[in-house]
Amino acid sequence: MIMNLYIMKKKLVFAAILAISLISWIYWSSSVETNDTFIILSRENYLYHNFLIEPRNTTCKGKPFLIIIVTSYVGHVELRSAHRRAMPPELLRSLNIARIFLLARIPENEKLITQAAIKDESEAFDDILQGSFVENYRNLTYKHLMGLQWASTNCYKAKFILKVDDDIVFNLNKSITFMKTINKTENLVMGYVLEYTKPRRNKENKWYVTWDEYSRNYYPPYLSGWYYITTPKVATLICDEATYHPKFWIDDILITGILTESLGFKLQHLPNDYWLEYYELLECCLRDMIDKSIMCNHVVGPNGGRNNLIVEFNEAVGHCESWKNCTQRSSEKPLKKVCIVNSDRTIFSNGQGQVELTKL
Ligand SMILES: *[C@@H]1O[C@H](CO)[C@@H](O)[C@H](O)[C@H]1NC(C)=O
Ligand SMILES: *[C@@H]1O[C@H](CO)[C@@H](O)[C@H](O)[C@H]1NC(C)=O
Ligand SMILES: *[C@@H]1O[C@H](CO)[C@@H](O)[C@H](O)[C@H]1NC(C)=O
Ligand SMILES: *[C@@H]1O[C@H](CO)[C@@H](O)[C@H](O)[C@H]1NC(C)=O
Ligand SMILES: *[C@@H]1O[C@H](CO)[C@@H](O)[C@H](O)[C@H]1NC(C)=O
Ligand SMILES: *[C@@H]1O[C@H](CO)[C@@H](O)[C@H](O)[C@H]1NC(C)=O
Repeated sequence: MIMNLYIMKKKLVFAAILAISLISWIYWSSSVETNDTFIILSRENYLYHNFLIEPRNTTCKGKPFLIIIVTSYVGHVELRSAHRRAMPPELLRSLNIARIFLLARIPENEKLITQAAIKDESEAFDDILQGSFVENYRNLTYKHLMGLQWASTNCYKAKFILKVDDDIVFNLNKSITFMKTINKTENLVMGYVLEYTKPRRNKENKWYVTWDEYSRNYYPPYLSGWYYITTPKVATLICDEATYHPKFWIDDILITGILTESLGFKLQHLPNDYWLEYYELLECCLRDMIDKSIMCNHVVGPNGGRNNLIVEFNEAVGHCESWKNCTQRSSEKPLKKVCIVNSDRTIFSNGQGQVELTKL
């Protein structure tokens, strides 16, 4: 009996120890879980679900061919105006295309613009989607995801989504013509593919990335955010995938690189002659169109800080088309030979990733 009691006591102590360790293990693991950056950050991703201004839900009524989402800094009123003049709403409607501009909240140091003015702009054009987060290049991920999310829910019947930046010039007619040749839209993510880029690890760089933010040596292949083509279906998958990933602030790399890699999508290249990587090339191509009636066959390029370039470019293309007297550029004098460029400004140098030249 005494013996039994002794054993029971021993068992009890053992059970108590077991219980205590179990409880502390649960406590420890749950506290680890709540301080897990993975969970904290994925919740933070939802910052883009509240809007200050939203276009009417009829923006994509019917079955649009295309929805264009344009990331635009809230203060870039003139750039948005240039886009609207280059591709007026009536023209877009006639082509069964919708367009929205993606904005964020006016930052405190921005004195030139008021929310009332943005509200007026939205009332006039009904093409503004303004997130409630503050404008900052470190918040671009929210803006980019907000655009994909909105387009994929409100324009889910659209055949394509075209994502562009507001300072990019593109030929709408050729963009449409090209999209019509796309044979397979399943898992479509198509643009300028950047490969073998490395995170910038020197603190002085604007695009400096800490090891905590990104721990691998290379970025996965990703697309330049200047201009890429995808579909509402893919955009939905990307936005869903984003909730399982830590937020990474370089939007192009997260959205078109990390998330598409994780979804197993293969990025596709646009044709080589599609792009003009330098502003100077675009300027030459445009000048030849105006002065010499030589058609510019390239589709996308940077505006080099000239707000109105997108208007001039599409106007010149329109003239070539309506006058029907433009010639094709002679293959003996390719644009890249006859035009002087300042090689500092390339598609890579606004970037984010450091390019390993040996591998290009
Ligand atoms: C989580 O843990 C890290 C260190 O591991 C600490 O720096 C951070 O402040 C913690 N965050 C929270 C929300 O407790
Ligand atoms: C669009 O908004 C109107 C009014 O706010 C609402 O009645 C309608 O159900 C909405 N339509 C869709 C497709 O969400
Ligand atoms: C991003 O937006 C949030 C929400 O408005 C804001 O608190 C934060 O300061 C912004 N980030 C930066 C780096 O400005
Ligand atoms: C594109 O240009 C061609 C002429 O090259 C013209 O026939 C056609 O109507 C234009 N398409 C659009 C969508 O503007
Ligand atoms: C679609 O297929 C046609 C015929 O095979 C091909 O010429 C065209 O380049 C393809 N389109 C794209 C975007 O690859
Ligand atoms: C094409 O037509 C326009 C308008 O008539 C004219 O200004 C331009 O000089 C013509 N270009 C050529 C190469 O004939």
